Amino acid sequence: MYTIVRYPETKNNSLKPWSAADELLLERVNEQNLSGKNIVVFNDRFGYLSVNLNSFEPWIITGYRSQEKALERNFKINGLDIEPGHIIRLPEPPPGKIDIALIRIPKSIELFRLFLYLTHEKSDENTEVICSFMTKYFSPQILKTAELFFEYVEQSKAKKKARLLILKNPKELKTEIKLTEQVTWKNITLKQYSGVFSSSRIDFATRFLLENFRVNVNEKRILDLAAGNGIIGYYILKEYKKQNLPQPELHLLDDSVLAVKSAEMNLPSKCFFHYNDTLEDLKENYFDLIITNPPFHFEHEINTEISINLFKESFAKLKPGGRFVLVFNRHLAGKYKPVLKALFQKITLVADSPKYMILECRKQK
Ligand SMILES: C[S@@+](CC[C@H](N)C(=O)[O-])C[C@H]1O[C@@H](n2cnc3c(N)ncnc32)[C@H](O)[C@@H]1O
Repeated sequence: MYTIVRYPETKNNSLKPWSAADELLLERVNEQNLSGKNIVVFNDRFGYLSVNLNSFEPWIITGYRSQEKALERNFKINGLDIEPGHIIRLPEPPPGKIDIALIRIPKSIELFRLFLYLTHEKSDENTEVICSFMTKYFSPQILKTAELFFEYVEQSKAKKKARLLILKNPKELKTEIKLTEQVTWKNITLKQYSGVFSSSRIDFATRFLLENFRVNVNEKRILDLAAGNGIIGYYILKEYKKQNLPQPELHLLDDSVLAVKSAEMNLPSKCFFHYNDTLEDLKENYFDLIITNPPFHFEHEINTEISINLFKESFAKLKPGGRFVLVFNRHLAGKYKPVLKALFQKITLVADSPKYMILECRKQK
């Protein structure tokens, strides 16, 4: 029996480090003779599958820095080492032919499509793909997407409200599968990898933020926090250019590797791109402006602890007199405002709508 913990830690006891869908996957894969098999694991959030299968040296496909930290932590507390080179970051494909792929189906169907694309590329008639999901999250799109890539698509019976989807026999792909998409808003067109936040359109909260945000000539060091495809940073650079202001030093940070790679496609290479789930690598008292549409859920979980930690870290990284600007859904005001009030000396409501609020928080000079 291994110990598996969550990273980041949570005070919410209802949030668990694995689910019945993970257990069902493991049960099914353990029925097989795994020795010498090339096993690939997708979307193993905290490492339950990878730790339990460690003796078979699986390839672990990661999409988040927080996931990588969770894996490192869980291998370590169980006295194990991750096989060197066996962490593969999206959208890199796993090496070699796949015998068994294990996929925890993500919330984003676009991300599931990317997982299946990478798996399909390395599959043959002997490959088995075992996917799992909690039945409450089933959507017909899951089956449709699986059928794009595999001839054989079969669902198992439900157990503890979880189900498996078994895929075999890779199809010959008739149409080109695109791994990136374009999103357009006003006269801005950005590229992003499948599965990055708000696929196919710029998020409504972000639009509201940008429609109400004013640049400040004196702000020279800016952080677009939880940057996604980099839309906020992109917009700010455009505004500086429009007003003939010298270009600021722009940093963009996101926990998702596909988000950071998308931002890299959209912004000039002289920007600073950070693949991280915390601000630990950034300097204290450094930024004039930190701006964000912060995350408040991860996959199907709602968790404001993550955004609240980012607020606290932002305060430390702002210069005295610097400002923290954020947009959020009104229903989160009760959770966010007390934390912000405890940190910042002055808080101004920039704009609000029936759905969203924008606050500007000043750090004391
Ligand atoms: C609401 S989206 C905003 C994305 C983008 N700024 C926009 O406006 O379209 C939040 C982003 O936070 C990222 N994220 C989640 N947890 C994070 C963390 N701990 N640190 C940094 N980014 C995180 C997600 O990957 C996602 O891209």
